[in-house]
Amino acid sequence: MLTRLTLTLALTVMTSSLGLAAGKDILIGVAGPHTGASAPFGLQLWKGAEKAVDDINKAGGVNGHMLRTVKADDACLPAQAKNVANKLVNTDKVNAVVGHFCSSSTIPAAGIYRENNVLMITPASTNPRVTEDQAYKTKDCQAITDKNKKDQCELNNYSTIMRTCGRDDQQGVEAANFIVNRLHSKSVAIIHDKDTYGQGLADAMRTHLKTLGQPAPVMYEGLTRGEKDFNALVTKVKAAKADVVYFGGLYAEAGPLLRQMREQGLKAAFISGDGIVSNDFLSAAGGAKFVDGAYMTFGADLRNVPTGKAVVEAFRKSGYEPEGYTLYSYAAVQAIAAAMKGTGEIQDGRKLSKWLVDNGAETVMGLVRWTPKGDLVKSSYVMYVWDKAGKYAEATKL
Ligand code: ALA
Repeated sequence: MLTRLTLTLALTVMTSSLGLAAGKDILIGVAGPHTGASAPFGLQLWKGAEKAVDDINKAGGVNGHMLRTVKADDACLPAQAKNVANKLVNTDKVNAVVGHFCSSSTIPAAGIYRENNVLMITPASTNPRVTEDQAYKTKDCQAITDKNKKDQCELNNYSTIMRTCGRDDQQGVEAANFIVNRLHSKSVAIIHDKDTYGQGLADAMRTHLKTLGQPAPVMYEGLTRGEKDFNALVTKVKAAKADVVYFGGLYAEAGPLLRQMREQGLKAAFISGDGIVSNDFLSAAGGAKFVDGAYMTFGADLRNVPTGKAVVEAFRKSGYEPEGYTLYSYAAVQAIAAAMKGTGEIQDGRKLSKWLVDNGAETVMGLVRWTPKGDLVKSSYVMYVWDKAGKYAEATKL
């Protein structure tokens, strides 16, 4: 008995002095499109989460546990997203989830995480419904006299759904302001991909143009995801005499759409959102000369913020460029780890999200704070412009 105790103590001292943690691994599901047309975005999420897990483990883990990632591929398909969410919760028994990417996948998956009290932080899903549908629902707990029951009632009001990115009701508004105030456009054609994110962003644009007293868009039309020939649509845009084409959707369709606009000689400005923040936009468009001058709204480029410097350097040293949502995914893992450290809890999603709402978390984004709904208290959108070298840089602060 004494020997076993001595051995256990010795091992504990050894593991902690080596910065190693004992105990069952904490599992972090990393859900997103790891296959399919949006796989480059899944890779951004995966790379960010993997690196954060690695860095946290090197620093000793969390509450005596090492972190481990579990990859879950939703291919940006809502039904598959529900399946993988169920699998992450019931089979893998993950402690928290980073993801998903496409709002149309995140929204149905979020219901499953919330029901099972699992913390989910999406680095990239910007549709308002991601948090609104699962939002903090204030059930009146005042009449409950038993303290424990009252605490539980209050805790149950917390959602377990959060994000490290902004929302499209801000992104669309700021893009509309840019179109009106900077480009002085009079005729905007709005095209979307009929998906939750793309159409939601297009709708936010249309609504805000109206608020700004602009004439109705000269065109408002959906295209079909997966298609590559948009020539007939471009002919209609030309006939409508649009001076700006605003596209709500992802790079796989944005690329050929833009290329075919230019090939048909349409000079209208092209503007899209965070759905094209990938170097793969370039290949989808067929080269830098086609993306040259295209505008894009996206959050702050975290590669340029001082808090992310060391991580960015380490990524680059390993041969990976942490573009797009990579660092937003890194930050999501940091937030999960901070909440687990802060609460001493590794499973109860509502406790973890409440802690994050109450305390915020230090991440590569700096100190991040959340509203009780799980949205960022402060998110800034920036207008970027792609250039003839196929790179994007900040065009102007919005
Ligand atoms: N922001 C995009 C979405 O919400 C990726 O689907």
